Amino acid sequence: MSYTNQLVEVDGLTQSFGGRRVLRDLRVSLPPGIHALLGPNGAGKTTLINILSTLIRPDAGRARVLGLDVYADRTQLRQKIALTGQYAAVDEALSGTENLDMMGQLFGLSRSAARRRGGLLLDQFGLTASKSAKVSTYSGGMRRKLDIAISLIAEPELIFLDEPTTGLDTRSRQALWDEIHRLADRGTSVFLTTQYLDEAEALADQILVLDDGRIVAEGTADELKELVGGAAIQLHDGAGHLQVEHATDGTAADVSRTLAELATQHPHLAVTVRKPSMDEVFLQLTGQPTEGASS
Ligand SMILES: Nc1ncnc2c1ncn2[C@@H]1O[C@H](COP(=O)(O)OP(=O)(O)OP(=O)(O)O)[C@@H](O)[C@H]1O
Ligand SMILES: [Mg+2]
Repeated sequence: MSYTNQLVEVDGLTQSFGGRRVLRDLRVSLPPGIHALLGPNGAGKTTLINILSTLIRPDAGRARVLGLDVYADRTQLRQKIALTGQYAAVDEALSGTENLDMMGQLFGLSRSAARRRGGLLLDQFGLTASKSAKVSTYSGGMRRKLDIAISLIAEPELIFLDEPTTGLDTRSRQALWDEIHRLADRGTSVFLTTQYLDEAEALADQILVLDDGRIVAEGTADELKELVGGAAIQLHDGAGHLQVEHATDGTAADVSRTLAELATQHPHLAVTVRKPSMDEVFLQLTGQPTEGASS
């Protein structure tokens, strides 16, 4: 396979800090699109994003992004990507508009183009009323939104977003999801990390599950659910209350056998086949619940 056609191409990537391995022999190959890296605290998500976005030189192995080596070609690569890190990086002494103007022009937009695009982004993220105030007066969520708006200003080929919606309210989270879909429609790729399965499921073409420095699963949300197996058969009464739930291995043979048994015992109850939730998948793959999971 040609490297140049892939968005991200990682082979044998290893990273240690102080003798401790935090990424272990990663092998990843992703086409253009929206990709989510999902994993618990300390899994290595930020480390991988920092390597792919040229901030850290990897210890061993190779990593190419947009066909360019993340170390040897880093100057060229930096012109094609944008990164919103896990912690806000905005200039406190400037206003929202001034931050966007400055970064837009740094990325090569004209002053008027930066102002126009910045205005649209401020509006989309609900920051218009505060656009002239200094960032030092912004709340944490407002800084986060501005930080993400800055990444989006130049419409790069690929945007890295490290936990972009952590700490955002529902409206801003939705605004970001909408913006990510809009960018994808226009051909920009997105590589994001998240602890929210619903976010990975809503946005990503491909989900990578990272746990303790290893990719433990990879696929679409549906493929990950299949991997964990078992569709469960549920029987509900007329009022919609769950009466019986039976696990299966998800194969046609097992589902039909289980259903036949249940039908003799509960002939009048309504049947639903339920796939495991993403939270259940995550729990099974990593041994820990996601942040914000209800159970
Ligand atoms: N510069 C560093 N020096 C030493 N250890 C580090 C450094 N950066 C990360 N680590 C360690 O590497 C491991 C992975 O960290 P990383 O920040 O990549 O995890 P993460 O998946 O982004 O976690 P979180 O969900 O908490 O953001 C952690 O154990 C962390 O302590
Ligand atoms: Mg992190």
